[in-house]
Amino acid sequence: MLSRIPVASVDLSGNEEAYAVDAIRSTWISSTGAYLNRFEREFADYCQSTTSLAVCNGTVALHLALMGLDVRPGDEVLVPSLTYVATANAVRYVGAEPVFIDVDPETWCIDPDKLEAAITRRTRGIIPVHLLGHPADMDRINRVADVHGLWVIEDAAEALGAKYKGQPVGSLSHCATFSFFGNKVITSGEGGAITLSDERLATRLRALRGQGMDPNRRYYFPITGYNFRLTNLACAILCAQMERKEAILDQRRKLCERYNQQLRSIPGISLQPVAPWAEISPWMYCCMIDPDAFGGTRDELMQELAEKNIESRPMFISLHTLPPFREESRKRNEHLPVTDRLSESGIMLPTYNTLSEADQDRVVGTIAEFQRQRGRQRRVA
Ligand SMILES: Cc1ncc(COP(=O)(O)O)c(C=O)c1O
Repeated sequence: MLSRIPVASVDLSGNEEAYAVDAIRSTWISSTGAYLNRFEREFADYCQSTTSLAVCNGTVALHLALMGLDVRPGDEVLVPSLTYVATANAVRYVGAEPVFIDVDPETWCIDPDKLEAAITRRTRGIIPVHLLGHPADMDRINRVADVHGLWVIEDAAEALGAKYKGQPVGSLSHCATFSFFGNKVITSGEGGAITLSDERLATRLRALRGQGMDPNRRYYFPITGYNFRLTNLACAILCAQMERKEAILDQRRKLCERYNQQLRSIPGISLQPVAPWAEISPWMYCCMIDPDAFGGTRDELMQELAEKNIESRPMFISLHTLPPFREESRKRNEHLPVTDRLSESGIMLPTYNTLSEADQDRVVGTIAEFQRQRGRQRRVA
């Protein structure tokens, strides 16, 4: 039996264990402590923001940001349909409605040209997602937002290390949200953060994160808040991950470049586009399968990979087609052809910094062989 190649894997080979043990020995394992302070400071610096707030996951980061910006029932928020479900779920948590926008075929991120037509008097903001590590076209999105008095939250869950026109994601709008789930570039198992440079908003978010406590009067709660905090123990792991982030990013970049070189010549495969102004984060390698030219569908390829003990992932299912959202989307008469096409044909391949070249060759070899055999079968038929 061939060894299993997972689609993602965690590398904790630096100071993660030492720092976690240190946090345990210090007994500071709850939601205050030196690692938490250090992580929040380093992460804000890395994103060129003045503040970062560690929270328990990326979904909570979005939920908290929306509450901080006072989004309410009846409000509308423009989001791409091609994203992980958390982007739209968070909008629902505050009683607002996600309005789905198609993506740009050149970036796979929300299409700035499609925003204006979707704005109504109920629209409050836009959540561009830096999908698969590719930054959204923030200048054009921010311009539309400025004209209409909207806020913008970057959903940067998949994009740590990406840059837009030389500037890091996390510093390109009112605030940004990150995830540190196990498949992300840096991880604490579960975890998330918000970055921002607006001190008033930061104060409000901090209060909402910590049960609504008054920053100047302990155990007095002037507003209803939540417990959305992250632990010092998780931040110990994140501090160690931060020490190695450039090395991890480099290894993942090389891996993605190698996939590009080997897959680009296979008939029916097209690669993720990269805009000239974008530096993408090598989060999860994704390519498109054109069934006619390839000789099989994306799902058939995933099945073949699974039979060879190689895990893969389909591209995100268009959110406007999912049960919680499709009725409202239908009422708005949303047609999102680019999203639907990418959603049906995209496949994510194993991407993690410890993936060996031999295992990567096994992934590519399986894909190439499947395509060759299918091509031969079609020629014979
Ligand atoms: C685009 C996007 N937004 C939000 C999230 C939610 O993050 P978490 O899983 O940490 O809650 C993810 C997670 O994978 C994501 O990919």
